[in-house]
Amino acid sequence: MTDFNTLFDQIIAELGGRDAVMALLDVGPSALSNYRKRGTIPSAKQALLDEALARKGLTFEADDLRLSARNSGEMRRVLLIITGGIAAYKALDLARRLMERGISVTGVMSKGAQEFITPLSVSALTGEKVYTDLFSLTDEAEMGHIRLARETDMVLVAPATAHFIAKMAHGMADCLASTICLATSAPVMIAPAMNPQMWAHPALQHNLTTLAQRGVEIIAPAIGDTACGEVGAGRLEEPIIIAEQVSARVRQTHQTVALSGKHILITSGPTIEPIDPIRFIANRSSGKQGHALAAEAVRRGARVTLVSGPVTEPPPAGLTHISIETAHQMKEACEAALPADSAICAAAVADWHVVGASTSKHKKTQAGPPVITLATNPDILAGLCQHDKRPSLVIGFAAETDNLETAAREKRIRKGCDWLIANHIVADAEQSVFGADTNQVLFISSDACEDWPSLKKTDVARRIFDRMEAWFDCD
Ligand code: C5P
Repeated sequence: MTDFNTLFDQIIAELGGRDAVMALLDVGPSALSNYRKRGTIPSAKQALLDEALARKGLTFEADDLRLSARNSGEMRRVLLIITGGIAAYKALDLARRLMERGISVTGVMSKGAQEFITPLSVSALTGEKVYTDLFSLTDEAEMGHIRLARETDMVLVAPATAHFIAKMAHGMADCLASTICLATSAPVMIAPAMNPQMWAHPALQHNLTTLAQRGVEIIAPAIGDTACGEVGAGRLEEPIIIAEQVSARVRQTHQTVALSGKHILITSGPTIEPIDPIRFIANRSSGKQGHALAAEAVRRGARVTLVSGPVTEPPPAGLTHISIETAHQMKEACEAALPADSAICAAAVADWHVVGASTSKHKKTQAGPPVITLATNPDILAGLCQHDKRPSLVIGFAAETDNLETAAREKRIRKGCDWLIANHIVADAEQSVFGADTNQVLFISSDACEDWPSLKKTDVARRIFDRMEAWFDCD
């Protein structure tokens, strides 16, 4: 049996060291010495310790004077890397939201982050030691950076600054946080936050594409007012939304589901092609079917890259969402996401773009409307089918008004895809598939043409993935 002082040392180590425990209990060093002398802890303080231990999946067994794991099979661990931006203060709320979802959080802070919040506030909240220094001998003795990077279900960088994203993209290891990102074998998610101009900069976007290609999942920033007073994309996504996405992802990493280990690329929504900075041409598309497919793929354990045009539908949790506008951008993002085991092209890609789109607004003049010259967009689906990294199963969609079956069969062959899901489009907007929650489709492969009944788009997604699972099993 352990004596009280040994147990107390274990509790202090579990809860992140003496300073963190003093902050948690709101006492000074003399109180800790008194507890040791007396061999007991006042009940109000004991309750605080119990709560903090419970958040780490531990329970204090008073009779045996020992700590034991409780529900250890259900406890998930996230390494929260906080980098230095004004949004760093939101990491405290984020940590709390993660813990509410049964996730234990270990904080790692960059030097910059410590300019905004203190390691003590993070450790008091998480009940864990906070790691800041690559070369700290104590940390190396307690838990070296390699162990820290490995013994976690996920590494989450939030907020991720432009500078830290650049370091990750270049594989730098000049601080504890960047070294962990290199050393970890766990999934990595990042939630960027920065000024809208910095977010839009091609250098930053290029770094993000590099990270996405390596499987880093990006929780895109929200659009709105940023701390620097500018409006646009760059504000850290709401902590509760980040916590939801992370929670979905860490639970998924613990499930062995049929499509785990598979990478699935999905296009969704419309592309929009600018005429000038104000006007554009586009296809009708709500993105509901593409997003339902992406959600279903995540549910079945796949690693999913969703390349989507502008839609109101939020991207499902637990995937990499790449937001694009034009067909050329969609093509680039899809090719950058390869290799993939399967590609599903559910996007309504505009067939044409405007040659030499104007950078200033076309004025209404006496001379009449502007003359617009259109050029054909690349066919992304056909391009993926011919790509030297062709996914082994490529699925296209088609919307047709006439001769659905003949047109769809012919289109499957012309595009070179394995399966084609064809919708019959009716002129009546009331009954139209666009924006609706249901879809009636033909499923066409080289040897089948099935007329599926009218189904919810989520059920169409389920049927397609049931087929896909069977297809991968027989492969
Ligand atoms: O030729 P059509 O637009 O009818 O083909 C529809 C299918 O091709 C859909 O799967 C759509 O996502 C894909 N497509 C594409 N790139 C285009 C046009 C269509 O990927 N430029």
